[in-house]
Amino acid sequence: MKRALITGVTGQDGSYLAEFLLEKGYEVHGVIRRSSSYNQERLEDILDDEAAGALLSNQNFHLHYGDVTDTSNVIRLMSEIRPDELYNLAAQSHVRVSFDMPGYTLDVDGKGTLNILEAVRILGLTDKTKVYQASTSELYGKVQEVPQKETTPFYPRSPYGVAKIYGFWITKNYRESYNMFAVNGILFNHESERRGETFVTRKISLAAARIAQGKQKKLSLGNLDSLRDWGYAKDYVECMWLILQHDKPEDFVIATGEMHTVREFVELAFNHVGIEIEWTGKGVDERGINKATGDVLVDVDPKFFRPTEVDQLLGDPTKARTLLGWNPTKTSFEELVRIMVQADMKKVEKEERVKKMFD
Ligand code: NAP
Ligand code: GDD
Repeated sequence: MKRALITGVTGQDGSYLAEFLLEKGYEVHGVIRRSSSYNQERLEDILDDEAAGALLSNQNFHLHYGDVTDTSNVIRLMSEIRPDELYNLAAQSHVRVSFDMPGYTLDVDGKGTLNILEAVRILGLTDKTKVYQASTSELYGKVQEVPQKETTPFYPRSPYGVAKIYGFWITKNYRESYNMFAVNGILFNHESERRGETFVTRKISLAAARIAQGKQKKLSLGNLDSLRDWGYAKDYVECMWLILQHDKPEDFVIATGEMHTVREFVELAFNHVGIEIEWTGKGVDERGINKATGDVLVDVDPKFFRPTEVDQLLGDPTKARTLLGWNPTKTSFEELVRIMVQADMKKVEKEERVKKMFD
């Protein structure tokens, strides 16, 4: 039985990856942070015996307290678990927040990665443990080429991107210096019903559901022109695993090869709840109007703008498709939006039922 260690297991990707690896028969260990409030919601399908069922035998799932910035903790966990595969997904992953907390973001996303690699080296696990580093399309930032591929030069535009560039290069450096199987997945944006609620797609899908059910009046957003290559997180965790199964340690771009504006995401999400949006005005005065009623449902609030923006991201997944046999278009953009909105419609309905029970 192969043993995997996932940092960031409570996050969107970590939770899907844990399920994926359990289904493949792995023994899965995950690092969770101590928190004053419950932080294992995304793991409930694994932790709940009934929901887990026969396939997701949670007997093979183990959680450990830890933090990638705590060097001694990382070394102790690594020496106890001695994983065959290590997926370093832990990060302060919000680009906007990284402008408020640049030092912390560097500690977690940069130094945290070094701590993982050093633990592998110090413990003599370089021949045993394969390391996957969660790199990002934010490295391309002010894009130097369209579409972006493995050879496109980087130009990060946020403290998050700059911290992640350290993670990228230190991973590559350990591969070259110590002959480790240490690789970067350069993943473009990927979303799901488990996406954090302050990322733009989830903010929109939740708002569409709440507005449709009369629980919210309006959605305020920042840059509506921003273009992203959005895929489905469930498809992307499969690729993380494929990258570690490849015969050679190499870095890969993971993307759909299609990009859409934030505005398009809004239109589709509201369409799914039966509302047609019509746009009026420009810049900060732009409004999304309910065509049927004339109500303003979307407006622009400059507080969501970033000091420096990444205007567009479009990935070229040819290498992953050719060498890993990965299908970048398994879930279409339209399907992704539908999945997210449907899940949020149910979530909002359920919240309402629970509220009524206690009214
Ligand atoms: P996410 O939902 O924000 O999850 C981040 C995870 O990291 C959470 O489990 C979080 O724990 C954990 N974490 C944060 N700081 C930590 C620390 N100091 N020590 C240990 N764990 C810590 O992010 P995601 O969307 O799943 O992304 C996973 C990884 O891929 C991240 O590294 C992200 O930067 C990268 N990435 C994401 C995308 C994307 O579009 N989703 C694209 C490219 C790269 P808590 O639950 O306790 O906060
Ligand atoms: N969050 C947010 N909130 N973004 C908004 C809003 C808003 O109200 N309005 C417009 N946007 C724009 C942002 O300015 C950005 O251009 C785009 O929507 C996407 O923002 P996010 O969903 O926050 O994601 P991101 O692209 O900045 O970062 C995500 O993808 C990266 C990969 O490219 C994160 O998951 C990163 O961790 C990841 O590395």
